[in-house]
Amino acid sequence: MSLYEVRWLALGLIGLAIILAISIGFMLAHPGRIPLMAMDEPGPVTTTADILAHPGLTQVGPHAFRAMVVARQYGFTPAALDVPVGSRVDFYVTGADVTHGFEIPGGNVNVEVFPGYVAHVYATFRKLGSYRTVCDQYCGIGHQNMLGNFNVVTGSAYAASLRNAAVASPGVRGAAVYASNCTSCHQANGQGVAGVFPPLAGSLADYTKAAGGRRVLEHVLVDGLSGPIRANDAAYNGAMPAWGASLTDRQIADVLAYITTAWHNDAKNPGSFVAIAPAEIASARRPALTAAAVHVERAKLPQP
Ligand code: CUA
Repeated sequence: MSLYEVRWLALGLIGLAIILAISIGFMLAHPGRIPLMAMDEPGPVTTTADILAHPGLTQVGPHAFRAMVVARQYGFTPAALDVPVGSRVDFYVTGADVTHGFEIPGGNVNVEVFPGYVAHVYATFRKLGSYRTVCDQYCGIGHQNMLGNFNVVTGSAYAASLRNAAVASPGVRGAAVYASNCTSCHQANGQGVAGVFPPLAGSLADYTKAAGGRRVLEHVLVDGLSGPIRANDAAYNGAMPAWGASLTDRQIADVLAYITTAWHNDAKNPGSFVAIAPAEIASARRPALTAAAVHVERAKLPQP
């Protein structure tokens, strides 16, 4: 071997050693930075059924939270999470329909989510800030709108948000439920998307004015709706998912309080209209209907 060859060989080995040292050093300096992904994790922590029934954030220690998140076409439930700075958050994510991703860009969380499995990933959030949660697996027509928010806030802001949630009016709480679950299809301005996702702005009097319409509207939220419909004199053919399993009675009542009054919908309601109470949602759950059966119900409503 010539000296020339030996020099190049040494250069290559030194380069390899530097790369290895950087990777090992990084792993030692940031334990936990490489996400742990446990698929189909059994037993004590959580199951897919738990997550589907009780999505949300739970404090499990002084600086520790458990976030149970459902990914579905096209959003996360809950879509907005606030945690106090310095918290370790263990995310348990499952899919309700097809394969999705759950990524917090810049927040060191990225995991693939399959229906029927629990994906577990954790990170500690030491810096204040607002992050997006995004789906990074193509999952259908609304994939690019499948977004949520993850906010790392001060301890006092976190305590205040808990107090506010407890005392807010149904419409105010409902606006948050809407922002988390409904905007990717019906849009923040309630205008929907032509042909697929019907507008809520200006169209809900179809339900609030019709005899029996109130119950049909409750069924649309609880059981879903599939099939061609008309709203604001235009045709739509999409599929509203059933929210009965992932939202509580109060959350559904709150979001109805919001959408039946937002965007000047209140001006079109009959004078006798009063907000839908959580107890009505509880009774609307029985018996469970299919989305196709709700479509039949809706078609029978007298058009105002
Ligand atoms: Cu869900 Cu892309």
